[in-house]
Amino acid sequence: MLDKTQKNWWQSAVAYQIYPKSFQDTTGSGTGDLQGIIRRLDYLQTLGVDVLWLSPVFASPQVDNGYDISDYQAIDPMYGSLEDMRALIAAGKERGVGIMLDLVLNHSSDQHRWFREARKSRDNPFHDYYVWRDGAEDRPPNDMRACFGGSAWTWVPQVGQYYFHQFAPQQPDLNWENPRVRREIYDMILWWMDQGVEGFRLDVIDQIAKEPDRFITGNGPRLHEFLRELSAETFQKGCLVTVGEAWGADLERAKLYSAPDGSELSMVFQFEHINLDHQPGGEKWDLAPLDFKALKKCLAKWQTGLHGCGWNSLFLNNHDLPRTVSRWGDDGACRVVSAKLLATMLHGMEGMPYIYQGEELGMTNISLPIGEYRDLESLNMYEERKAAGCPEAEIMASLYARSRDNARTPMQWDTSAHGGFTEGTPWLTENPNYREINAADQVADPDSVFHYYRRLIALRKTYPVFVHGDFTLLEPDHPNLFVYRRRLDGQALLVICNYGGGETAWSVPEDWTHARCLIANYPDQIPGRLRPWEARILLREEKE
Ligand code: GLC
Repeated sequence: MLDKTQKNWWQSAVAYQIYPKSFQDTTGSGTGDLQGIIRRLDYLQTLGVDVLWLSPVFASPQVDNGYDISDYQAIDPMYGSLEDMRALIAAGKERGVGIMLDLVLNHSSDQHRWFREARKSRDNPFHDYYVWRDGAEDRPPNDMRACFGGSAWTWVPQVGQYYFHQFAPQQPDLNWENPRVRREIYDMILWWMDQGVEGFRLDVIDQIAKEPDRFITGNGPRLHEFLRELSAETFQKGCLVTVGEAWGADLERAKLYSAPDGSELSMVFQFEHINLDHQPGGEKWDLAPLDFKALKKCLAKWQTGLHGCGWNSLFLNNHDLPRTVSRWGDDGACRVVSAKLLATMLHGMEGMPYIYQGEELGMTNISLPIGEYRDLESLNMYEERKAAGCPEAEIMASLYARSRDNARTPMQWDTSAHGGFTEGTPWLTENPNYREINAADQVADPDSVFHYYRRLIALRKTYPVFVHGDFTLLEPDHPNLFVYRRRLDGQALLVICNYGGGETAWSVPEDWTHARCLIANYPDQIPGRLRPWEARILLREEKE
């Protein structure tokens, strides 16, 4: 177990993201719950993770699956109660698994008490908790668009004003310019810290300092000032791990966010690598093939760029992204080896790895009839593109490839009905491949994707070079080989990945021929060539 009283304990930690709605149902309601997470703690302990990031479980009307919070200090009854949360925190601590809550601080639900008050009158004490502008009905202050489609402004006749929302109209943006809003947020966070949570993920945190009159959403001028105040008032009073979601982060900003003095956050999720397979200038729905060379150059840039002056988060999956094995691997005949290659590539690097539920099984995307999609963003895109005359087949191809519901199908526990997720009717259709891809089979099979992840996690805990080693990209111009070296205090790692379904002629450099193989996704090695999706990590002692 990690000693979590040590500052920076999280640098050696591995996180696991749970999407509670789809993890484990214990009541037959068809949605997962907190007791379900408690039931599966042994599984997570076997995997070896240290932190569980839970997508929001707070009280919410669920317009955006909990990313619309109506009470930050209550658990949504669908998931259980505050008592269940306390029980989960306690049971987790016994196993060395801490709880990381997902705070949505950019906006609340329109059903939050603050907003219900705010919309009553302009002189209501809560009015200024949100971002309002004058205008006339049918004439919004400007033409800014919301991320989920439509205008970013919604008219409220009672006050004769528009409020600003970067997401759905039911997700009004909070006004961070108002010090009372910030104080309410800090007090709420301190209260959760008292409950024993060990970390926070901060939803779209780069969007809090918006200035809609200047068309600014991300990276507003006061962003880092707000973050430093937030951190000093809350996180720095404990020994927490914090990660901000920052779609707009570049390397320079990431250095501020993750400065080693802890003045802001521990790290951010940046998405430069995730954005590599859209058409230039297009949205994520506008598919383009992945340029693997660009991917490895991007990852290498972040590795060397933050070494010694910041911290990376390492991820390929989350609840908003398609399953990587379907996206960048091969979810057909080479599913197992390609899932292991993607894991090797990521877990060999410096930073905090985040595993998204089911990734450790190599779970795949799903193709649903339109009536079975549940995600608001997907449904809005379908309607918008339909209305714009886009062919049905093209829209569906985008959904199959990129819909957020790909990641949100129920966790596949075993071969029983609905993959063991629920005894009721699941809120989102399960992937029928649970009969072949499920946790029970993989826990029993030492060659499974599950055990490969377990071993990668164990390696990080055994060899400090995984945690703190420097990074050098080898073969930078090779189109499908991703080879890199890590070095620390007389130990070196060589991470070798042959990306794609073809063979590649390649020999291990001479000075590595006697190195020890720590992990590999093929049982043997063939001199002079690498097989489809072959990956391995070598360790060498470098005695001077
Ligand atoms: C983040 C979340 C996403 C949510 C959005 C609005 O991007 O990850 O799921 O819809 O913020 O809160």
